Amino acid sequence: MSFDLVFFGGTGDLTWRKLMPALFQAFRHGKLPAGGRILSVARDEQTDDKYRAWLKERFQDVEGAKRPSDEEFARFAELVHYRRMDLSQPEHYGKLKQWLEERGADTAVLYLATSPHLFPQICQQLGAVGLNAPHIRVVLEKPLGHDLASAQEINRVVRSVFSEAQAFRIDHYLGKPSVQNLMALRFGNALFEPLWRRESIANIQITLAETLGVGTRGDFYDRTGALRDMIQSHALQLMTMVAMEPPSRNDADSIRDEKLKVLRSLKPFTNDSVLRDVVRGQYRRGTSEGTSVPGYLDESKVPAGSDCETFVALRTEVQNWRWAGVPFYLRTGKRLAARDAQIVVNFRPTPHNIFPGANQPNKLVIKLQPEDGLELHLLAAKGTGQHEPLAPVFLDLDFDKAFAENRVGAYERLLVEAIAGRLNLFVRSDEQEEAWRWVEPVLDAWERDNSASGAPRPYAAGTWGPAAASALVARDGFAWAEEQ
Ligand code: BG6
Repeated sequence: MSFDLVFFGGTGDLTWRKLMPALFQAFRHGKLPAGGRILSVARDEQTDDKYRAWLKERFQDVEGAKRPSDEEFARFAELVHYRRMDLSQPEHYGKLKQWLEERGADTAVLYLATSPHLFPQICQQLGAVGLNAPHIRVVLEKPLGHDLASAQEINRVVRSVFSEAQAFRIDHYLGKPSVQNLMALRFGNALFEPLWRRESIANIQITLAETLGVGTRGDFYDRTGALRDMIQSHALQLMTMVAMEPPSRNDADSIRDEKLKVLRSLKPFTNDSVLRDVVRGQYRRGTSEGTSVPGYLDESKVPAGSDCETFVALRTEVQNWRWAGVPFYLRTGKRLAARDAQIVVNFRPTPHNIFPGANQPNKLVIKLQPEDGLELHLLAAKGTGQHEPLAPVFLDLDFDKAFAENRVGAYERLLVEAIAGRLNLFVRSDEQEEAWRWVEPVLDAWERDNSASGAPRPYAAGTWGPAAASALVARDGFAWAEEQ
């Protein structure tokens, strides 16, 4: 199957930092169908060779084992082309069409790695020149919109040009092998399904913690904040996979229908529940991984006195028969104590304890990163004496070790899937809009109320966030995993 892959924003950060290195890995692993051509388009005037030389230099920043040798790069670079394109000029789209039609590949994937505010304009222009035939796909990078209305507007324009089956909305978490393992754990194994419900589960915690600060992205981040950046997208996507009903088939719409039902079942926020169930924080100076680091307000490009949140912890529920009354806690933040993405399923304690000591409940920890694995925490008798308390032990599965060979990174996988036209790992417009609908009352409440109760709570860099986040969970008689 021959294909053309076009990167709009061909000289931008995303293209050289993530997309090209991922594509190179796919090439190295033999995952790209033969007959592929990669085209970067951007404003600068330059030749294919100059672009390739520039790209080669950028590849020096790619981490060790993933960096191509000169010979590998030369073979990869043969696929890479460059064209100047001013995205505001209609005739440039005509030229692009001509270039694609000259060869007539089976598939063309148009990857919009530009600022999202350009998506509607680019889609309209593509439609105007007929670059929306059924063999053409469009890939849209996050963030898709800033709130429900802007997301709906982008989707309206995209849908007026492309069918839903042609639109590939990226949430790169869906490409991570660990997230795929979550599907495998739930729907490829029968063991947990009978327990995966309110009768056996006390609460579920999803943590996406980073040690990094906002780095050089202060201006973007300040317009975005942790709720939009991580909760609306990655955390909610993970939550849908944890809470969804088993799909009847492993195809895109069967899966996405079930995910959508979870989003529609989330307990809606009210003004009162935002104050009670959502904790918003902002980091101050502190020590991160042994180094002293500045607070958010001292980061470059962050406006003075900004009230942008770099941390969110919230409590919600899925209002259906399976989950009624089970708290789901979602938490994310920059400059936290560890880089740690995990889902912790806390089971209920045994109904009657016959052993001395605490009745410590079982828990399943689904580790997403930095390690990809599973821990099942149990209690065991140490065998040292009859009246000894039971000892906590855990079964530890390390998928990075078990499947050491050629584990595929998120963007590599998503690019290959988009070229193959498989939508399972992409977000459908109704899912995306429903996620915005759910977070919007929180955004509105924060915008209205910047009083002491609504403003972000400070936390020192290198900690687990404001104390109020612990109180949120403690109120229900629980604790975050690191406090258990
Ligand atoms: C991105 C966010 O979507 O995800 C970033 O915009 C965040 O702020 C990143 O750092 C985290 O991704 P990962 O794969 O490093 O966990």
